[in-house]
Amino acid sequence: MRELRFGVIGWGYWGPKIARNLESLPHVTVAMVADLDARRLASLTASPNGLQTTTEIEAVFRSDVDGVVIATPVRTHYELARQALLHGKHVLVEKPLTANVEEAEELVALAETQGCILMVGHTFEYNPGVNELRKLVQSGDLGKIYCVEAERVNLGLYRQDINVIWDLAPHDISILLYLFGKRPETVKVQAHAHLLPSIQDVAHLDLGFADGMSAHIHVSWLHPCKIRRVTIIGDARMVVYDDTNPAEMLKIYNKGADIHVDPVVSYRFGAITIPHIDWVEPLRLECEDFVNSIRNGTEPRANGRVGLEVVRVLAAAQASLLQQEHHVSVVPISL
Ligand SMILES: NC(=O)c1ccc[n+]([C@@H]2O[C@H](COP(=O)([O-])OP(=O)(O)OC[C@H]3O[C@@H](n4cnc5c(N)ncnc54)[C@H](O)[C@@H]3O)[C@@H](O)[C@H]2O)c1
Repeated sequence: MRELRFGVIGWGYWGPKIARNLESLPHVTVAMVADLDARRLASLTASPNGLQTTTEIEAVFRSDVDGVVIATPVRTHYELARQALLHGKHVLVEKPLTANVEEAEELVALAETQGCILMVGHTFEYNPGVNELRKLVQSGDLGKIYCVEAERVNLGLYRQDINVIWDLAPHDISILLYLFGKRPETVKVQAHAHLLPSIQDVAHLDLGFADGMSAHIHVSWLHPCKIRRVTIIGDARMVVYDDTNPAEMLKIYNKGADIHVDPVVSYRFGAITIPHIDWVEPLRLECEDFVNSIRNGTEPRANGRVGLEVVRVLAAAQASLLQQEHHVSVVPISL
């Protein structure tokens, strides 16, 4: 089997994790690492396996690598991905694909013209817990889905170039699109910038779907606890996916509320089921999909069009934020 060679651009927090997972795959080599900041590359320069490091990013595009991974700040994704595609490289770009819809559309079209794979780092689409959840949704066992609640909060990491919506919500939006295979029709946002001026660090997104399903996403960099949770409320069952609890990642509740005798509501309290989940690191599965797509000429799961859909929702959220509806004053009352 032919060895596939990759270049990784961006050697900060996430780039080395992708490189480690790519390198763990058979017949795959990370041949080049590039970062504008030479200090980031310092730990790699003494590498004995011939790995080339550079601060000249174009050198990656001119090299013989088959594919390029882009793990740099969001504002740089478009131009780096565009250059890589123009040089005929397959591209895995971190989430979100770009910082606006026009750029995402252009990259999707360019990848098609160039016959290159364009993939986005929607890691949670490769998470075994999310995949089990998707099977459950598609089995119909949850019944009619009323609503979804997603929480992704922790202390930091603050970004300087984007707000918390563009940083964290891509994960929840990609999970929703992947689970339900339908895009929201409306987005309404409430967000606040507490620490840095004009960079919202706490946000609530309300998504409305054509069939009446609703989804609420809470993302925050300003929270004492790490919560990565998705709760789905169906009329037959309810389920909680908790990414921070590997032993009990999914809990399926046989609980519900029904109209008993109009208008009386009755409640069901049944057993909780915790399915076993065979765990594989999601980033490894993501890298495998990238490599297999290149080898077989097939579309990866988190392909460019999926990335574009996520950017469309983010852009709608940003538009909603800019036009935050008028707030109704709370009129003081005398007690
Ligand atoms: N999929 C996930 O779960 C996940 C997790 C974390 C981060 N990310 C994504 O990965 C990307 C990088 O995030 P990070 O946390 O590693 O950031 P980081 O700040 O730790 O690292 C970014 C690196 O890119 C370098 N850089 C900046 N501009 C560059 C340019 N034009 N050319 C080359 N190098 C450049 C910086 O010097 C830095 O070393 C972001 O898009 C982020 O959204 C994804």
